[in-house]
Amino acid sequence: MVHAPARPPAGAPPVRINLYSDTQTRPTAAMKDAMMRAEVGDEQHGDDPTVHALCDRMAALMGKEAAMFLPSGTMCNVIAILTHCRKGDEVVAHETAHILTSEGGTHAALTGAQITPLKGPRGMFTADDVRAAIRPRTRYAPPQRLLEVEQTANIGGGAVWPLDQLNAVAAVAHEQGWATHMDGARLMNACVAAGIAPRDMVASYDSVWLDFTKGLGAPLGAVLCGSSEFIGEAWRWKQRLGGSLRQAGLSAAGCLYALDHHVDRLAEDHANAKALARGLAQIPGVVVEEPDTNLVFFDIRGTGQSVEQLQRTLLMQGVAVSGLGGRVRACTHLDVTAPMIEEATGLIRQALAA
Ligand SMILES: Cc1ncc(COP(=O)(O)O)c(C=O)c1O
Repeated sequence: MVHAPARPPAGAPPVRINLYSDTQTRPTAAMKDAMMRAEVGDEQHGDDPTVHALCDRMAALMGKEAAMFLPSGTMCNVIAILTHCRKGDEVVAHETAHILTSEGGTHAALTGAQITPLKGPRGMFTADDVRAAIRPRTRYAPPQRLLEVEQTANIGGGAVWPLDQLNAVAAVAHEQGWATHMDGARLMNACVAAGIAPRDMVASYDSVWLDFTKGLGAPLGAVLCGSSEFIGEAWRWKQRLGGSLRQAGLSAAGCLYALDHHVDRLAEDHANAKALARGLAQIPGVVVEEPDTNLVFFDIRGTGQSVEQLQRTLLMQGVAVSGLGGRVRACTHLDVTAPMIEEATGLIRQALAA
């Protein structure tokens, strides 16, 4: 039996302050308007002009030759690994990586790649950690093919990899002849927080994707970027997996709107996250991880309450937070304002004092 995410307790009011995830943003009226006005074609057939516009723009933004529109970030990871690797190849990634913890075992089930987990604080590892994972090239060892990083590192606390560290781990991989792949579910959060242009942030990575359904606020879509050859190969997997779309320009228009209007404002989400962290740090028994971006993780074991207890109490007040890896996660985004943060901080304090 597969468990679905918990439903709100009976009698809970509608969620007013949704800190559960930045995936829960609703498209704004202006974004919906842009989507309704989109020029569309048949994406699978290669003639949707809005998808082409989005892919051209993304390739330029990331400094890569080509790009491909996909329905989800998970499909970007799956297709990237299918394209870089053959069955039995090894992918080296952090032990908290989404590909390892949150994709339903897809890499065992579909890609056949073996993922070796590296340890390290905040979802990151060092060049020495990668060196220590290098295997001798013998008939016994799995062929090592790919290094994968997450920018920002989700379970790592929304942490931003410093550019030097990103480049250093990629350099070790390239010395070994491995490819490098970046899961950029929240890449723009990292770029805005660090003040680094996307093309510079991802320059050492052979493939990279960006999700539009997180802080960028679109209802659907992610774009995978890489060399023309890589994207050409990736298209075969897109087709095989049923990820080739039809009038996808409707969704691509939402993504283009997000690039125009929802990138710079991510700084507001980061400021709200910092304000929330400051407020939570005042609550006795709560240990807060200093946020780099829009994810605030905190440990409430010192209060004697469980994550589920806190979630239930807050849901009865119309506030949603998530539980991840034994910690509480509160996520700021487009639909969360500074006054909401103030109110949520008060309600969390009250709930934990009870
Ligand atoms: C780091 C990371 N990678 C990949 C994904 C998957 O993205 P999607 O939900 O679009 O499939 C997520 C989603 O939360 C994520 O946080």
